[in-house]
Amino acid sequence: MRAIQMVDLKQQYLKIKEEVDSAIHDVIDTTSFINGKAVTDFAKNLSEYLDVKNVIPCANGTDALQIAMMALGFEPGDEIITPSFTYVATTEVVALLRLKPVFVEVDAKTFCIDPAAIEKAITPKTKAIVPVHLYGQAAPMEEIMAIAKKHNLYVIEDNAQATGSDYTFKDGTTKKTGTIGTIGTTSFFPSKNLGCYGDGGAIFTNDDALANLLKMIANHGQSKRYYHELVGCNSRLDSIQAAILNIKLKNLDSYNEARRDVADYYDKALPIMQK
Ligand SMILES: Cc1ncc(COP(=O)(O)O)c(C=O)c1O
Repeated sequence: MRAIQMVDLKQQYLKIKEEVDSAIHDVIDTTSFINGKAVTDFAKNLSEYLDVKNVIPCANGTDALQIAMMALGFEPGDEIITPSFTYVATTEVVALLRLKPVFVEVDAKTFCIDPAAIEKAITPKTKAIVPVHLYGQAAPMEEIMAIAKKHNLYVIEDNAQATGSDYTFKDGTTKKTGTIGTIGTTSFFPSKNLGCYGDGGAIFTNDDALANLLKMIANHGQSKRYYHELVGCNSRLDSIQAAILNIKLKNLDSYNEARRDVADYYDKALPIMQK
């Protein structure tokens, strides 16, 4: 019996092997290991693909969430609303920053946060909502943004599992998930929709001032070398990973289409799962 891979990274690699090997070789050849051209090219390519003004690459999806929360100036004890069903990283960073995670229920069909439950969880200490676009499914962003506006809250979209997903508004227009809230974050862990060959992540925002702050925090709190204006961290996407991601980004829509085809196959083969 042949073991079925959850995501067959080897087969995926073999299809783009020549391009990937040559891109990795270029980085080594130019020794531009840190913040090289591949990283700036990738930030530009991803911002065009997502149609978002700023993409800040970083070391992984957990750091992306942490940097986003550091940039929004939360104080210890502030409440952050998160879904009760997600990967641990979403709430881990909330606890790490001494904030208070407030768990709310998810919709049993989509596994995404339930807007009615969000409204009930809001208190005077609530500062932000963190919807998670789980399993490639878009959280109900239109409702979430309306609640955030009403209560003056930030929205940080955890898009680690949904790079390339579209959210459709009631008027039929679409936006990429991760580009609708105040800040969006993602992970390039190898098995993700857009995965590299190690760790990687990114932060998105349409707010230029916030983008500068996010960049500074990800780079030891500096915008000018050796001028550390605030406490930040060291969170970089390395050039080899960016070079790989530049190639894989061109194939992202087809990777997502293949995942949908497999999901359809299982839906048909296991109709009980749809109830
Ligand atoms: C929903 C969600 N958020 C955050 C993360 C963290 O990403 P990373 O593993 O790159 O730190 C993941 C990764 O598994 C995830 O699935």
